[in-house]
Amino acid sequence: MQDAGADALELNVYHVAADPSRAAGEVEAADLQLIAAVRAAVTIPLAVKLSPYYSSFASFAAAATRAGADGLVLFNRFYQPDLDLDSLDVVPRLELSHAWELRLPVRWIAILRPQLGTGVSLAATSGVHAGTDAVKALMVGADVAMMTSALLRHGPQHVATVEAELRDWLAEHDYTSVGELRGSASASTVEDPAAFERANYMATLRSWTTPAELTPS
Ligand SMILES: Cc1cc2nc3c(=O)[nH]c(=O)nc-3n(C[C@H](O)[C@H](O)[C@H](O)COP(=O)(O)O)c2cc1C
Repeated sequence: MQDAGADALELNVYHVAADPSRAAGEVEAADLQLIAAVRAAVTIPLAVKLSPYYSSFASFAAAATRAGADGLVLFNRFYQPDLDLDSLDVVPRLELSHAWELRLPVRWIAILRPQLGTGVSLAATSGVHAGTDAVKALMVGADVAMMTSALLRHGPQHVATVEAELRDWLAEHDYTSVGELRGSASASTVEDPAAFERANYMATLRSWTTPAELTPS
């Protein structure tokens, strides 16, 4: 790929750890070896796309950068197969993402940005559908926000819509550049960085309100 002229590579680490005889450390060590082997084979920038299913994600993310990843793409979205009850087959089911799925990369980019330093690029993928989603990703420190589902749903011209929404939001909120926005709400800059980490369980549960049709009159 490098010899053919690629400017950079994205290595997608996509596997389900389903072997009960391989502990987490072994699986992680193999993933790190893979990253190091690819890093040793090329000189162009290397981004590594990871799933969120590592038991200590911040530690693994840091190890991935030490193994040679110049950037992390967060996150891989594993597709869950379904059962067809007529044929009794396991069938692939591709569901496009929803905007709420952005919360997972937003949380982790907010946490990792100050930990990994500016030498490591971070890309947000999953749930970027509108300009305000790109704002959130950039605000917590993403270098780029990526879109797939939104473009499949609305067509490639949706890129221009999202860019216009991003520009409008920046102008309305007195930001003069994307650079000014980037990282302005990461875990190192927000008033309550623990909010990105703790479950905040009771407050979250209290935020639920019963739908009007289920409320006794
Ligand atoms: C039809 C389709 C094909 C995809 N192909 C790839 C692929 O080849 N490699 C990859 O890393 N991710 C692939 N993805 C995952 C996307 O890159 C992206 O990470 C995921 O869809 C979440 O982002 P989104 O919410 O913008 O869709 C694919 C997604 C879809 C829907």
